[in-house]
Amino acid sequence: MSQHDLASIARALVAPGKGILAADESAPTIKKRFDSISVDSTETNRRDYREFMFRAPGSEQYISGVILYDETLRQKAADGTPLVEILKQNGIIPGIKVDMGAKPLAGHPDEKVTEGLDGLRDRLNEYAELGAQFAKWRAVITIGEDMPSRACYTANAHALARYAALCQEAGLVPIVEPEVLMDGKHTQARSEEVTSEILHLVFGALYRQDVNLEGILLKPNMVLSGYECPQQASVQEVAEATVRVFQRHVPAAVPGIVFLSGGQSDELATAHLSAMNALDTARPWELSFSYGRALQASALKAWGGKKESIPAAQEAYLHRARCNSAARYGKYDASMEKGAAKGDKLVSQD
Ligand code: 13P
Repeated sequence: MSQHDLASIARALVAPGKGILAADESAPTIKKRFDSISVDSTETNRRDYREFMFRAPGSEQYISGVILYDETLRQKAADGTPLVEILKQNGIIPGIKVDMGAKPLAGHPDEKVTEGLDGLRDRLNEYAELGAQFAKWRAVITIGEDMPSRACYTANAHALARYAALCQEAGLVPIVEPEVLMDGKHTQARSEEVTSEILHLVFGALYRQDVNLEGILLKPNMVLSGYECPQQASVQEVAEATVRVFQRHVPAAVPGIVFLSGGQSDELATAHLSAMNALDTARPWELSFSYGRALQASALKAWGGKKESIPAAQEAYLHRARCNSAARYGKYDASMEKGAAKGDKLVSQD
């Protein structure tokens, strides 16, 4: 696949009014999510849950792509159609999570480094044959006393760049995800400092590995105050600090920045995205979403494992997708939430 093809997939993923659904929870993570609604994490239940989102009528107006987990990429719907085909028939691009999880970093027991580079070339080739057109690798950066360490910053930036180069070689668009966790007592200023540092290092590493920036997407955190910080930044302050960091550290060649939701409430994740897109400032990249929890929490609760609840669960999912689509234009308004189903707080991916 040419660099040109990679760039057109990347641009299609951030087409106007559309964003990405992250439905790539690993087996242990989806079990925790199902535990919260007292549903067993069987292969059939996992299939039924993902299938109703993929079949949600009209979702392709708001959703450009879906990130899948290995099992889902190989799974068939109840009627025998591969789940990947359902997405493709609806004009939604299938993607795949390819990292093997964030593991303790040697010498830094409270920090993580994401593993999965060994054998990645072969796995990427197989995923491309199975229909994936883009991939995701999530690095996790924790803010705390003496953290992040230099070791954590550099090990994760290097791995992200190695992954991105391998993806482009295999014809997959890499989503590069350096996630600075929002948990902790830190201030918004500290979050801005750490987000700046990791972005600076990641783009340096991508440059050194000859990654073509037109053919990637960046998936970062927003710049929030730590969840336990007594002083919480306003929606406007979050929008301004977040866009400022990107203006300083993300080259204009990158077609899109697709945020993770990171444990924010559904409404706040949408409000922040909308406020960023409403700012009167330079934005050379599309600012979009690649939410897991903030697109799924209300749908998961509405479903509750019951077949008869699928239409209500699909509506809960479509509602969030619609609100985030409006946020792509800076046009989300809290009044859109009137009468909408609510979700519960969900645990992070592992
Ligand atoms: P959340 O939106 O739930 O943070 O997850 C997105 C994701 O894909 C994390 O890797």
